[in-house]
Amino acid sequence: GPANIGVVGLAVMGSNLARNLASRIGNTVAIHNRSRGKTDALMSEHPEAGFVPSYDYEEFAASLQKPRTAIIMVKAGAATDSVIDALVDVFEPGDIIVDGGNALFTDTIRREKAVRETGINFVGMGVSGGEEGALLGPSLMPGGSDESWDTLGPILRSIAAIAEGEPCVTHVGHDGAGHFVKMVHNGIEYADMQLIAEAYDLIRRGTGRTPAQIAEVFAEWNEGELESYLIEITAEVLRQVDADTGKALVDVILDQAGAKGTGAWTVQTALNLGVPVSGIAEAVFARSLSSHPEQRAVSGDLPGPAESLSVADPDAFIEDVRLALYASKIVAYSQGFDEIRAGAAEYDWAIDLGAISKIWRGGCIIRAQFLNRIADAYAQTPDLPVLLTAPYFVDALTRSQDAWRRIIATAAGAGIPAPAFSSSLSYYDGLRAKRLPAALIQGQRDFFGAHTYKRIDKPGTFHTLWSGDRTEIEAEDTH
Ligand code: 6PG
Repeated sequence: GPANIGVVGLAVMGSNLARNLASRIGNTVAIHNRSRGKTDALMSEHPEAGFVPSYDYEEFAASLQKPRTAIIMVKAGAATDSVIDALVDVFEPGDIIVDGGNALFTDTIRREKAVRETGINFVGMGVSGGEEGALLGPSLMPGGSDESWDTLGPILRSIAAIAEGEPCVTHVGHDGAGHFVKMVHNGIEYADMQLIAEAYDLIRRGTGRTPAQIAEVFAEWNEGELESYLIEITAEVLRQVDADTGKALVDVILDQAGAKGTGAWTVQTALNLGVPVSGIAEAVFARSLSSHPEQRAVSGDLPGPAESLSVADPDAFIEDVRLALYASKIVAYSQGFDEIRAGAAEYDWAIDLGAISKIWRGGCIIRAQFLNRIADAYAQTPDLPVLLTAPYFVDALTRSQDAWRRIIATAAGAGIPAPAFSSSLSYYDGLRAKRLPAALIQGQRDFFGAHTYKRIDKPGTFHTLWSGDRTEIEAEDTH
């Protein structure tokens, strides 16, 4: 066949990715969609792309050069499985099937294993950057075999976003590694968005500034160390005026945040791995809380503090909020990278954490200057156990921790929820603590369940005879 790459699934993400591929020198792109209409529409709207259309899978396979390479861009779940089955029927050993949807990484591990048995390569690939990213340059997180990367690498490098001269794509690791890393990207995205929302709320309630005025604050922050896509679009959203009412759009949008599940997966996976992604978890839970109108309706008259927030120096307060946001953001990224580190250990993926931070510098939703600092940290110490202990972040936390504490104290005193700010600080103080009350929990566990404990002063495992004479004995380790 004439095409060197194919795309199956021509909804917005798929058709934009196909157009991006077609716009790069040397590519001829085969396209296929379950219903004929989308294929025909794309053909007629973009004649310049030179697409090779096909209306069934035999035709699609015949339109591709060998080894055939096809990217699936359909809904995660059952739709993805049915496209994979159809492609496996018409493809041959050595061909490559890429799933560019937001698949759960365990599904990707399962699919890769099943497809590999046919001799066909399967690559789960995280794609970030929304519709515009797909068209102009996304951040790409492919997993799968080294062999598939040899073929895919040059094609993916040609369509990815460029950050500081480097394409935002790397071979993340085998089988589900790419989708795992995309999942954590989304968890960090949730945290970043929640932290920004808390900052906005505090400024609004603390200073009485209008959304348009707060847009200016974010625009200014976007010039400094917080520079990022999410801060930039926050200013745009806050500036937007509703045509119907003349009010700020943010004031007429229903305050119930949706979620399609990747944030929850990040937290569920972290719970299974035993990784404390508390800031990310709070961001997911904050969306859940917002989306229970029946509970909120009966809770509006619960007692709150007598005093409402009154800020003496609005500029100083806004600067404190900025520092609290920055410190909490460092925690969110540190937690996310901790989850990637733990996932890599669990699933035996050789993930280069510095390379991940680099491919997130462009194209994706969490793109930011900040990611250069993470890249620096891992360049200095590749096996850094806690990202936020890197010198640059220690400096930033040293500068911001007082403001961070003030803001959380102020929020608590005024009855303003700041769940992601506060849980990030608790995580930070938990890490710092020389002694944690976990010792007491071990004592309680030993009391009611003979779960045993270890001692600080000698090796071994111990149990106190709580219901007997309360002497201590050596015991089997039961964890
Ligand atoms: C991206 C985004 C994207 C995700 C949306 C929706 O990287 O381009 O992460 O993949 O689907 O952000 O997420 P929610 O609907 O769960 O907010």
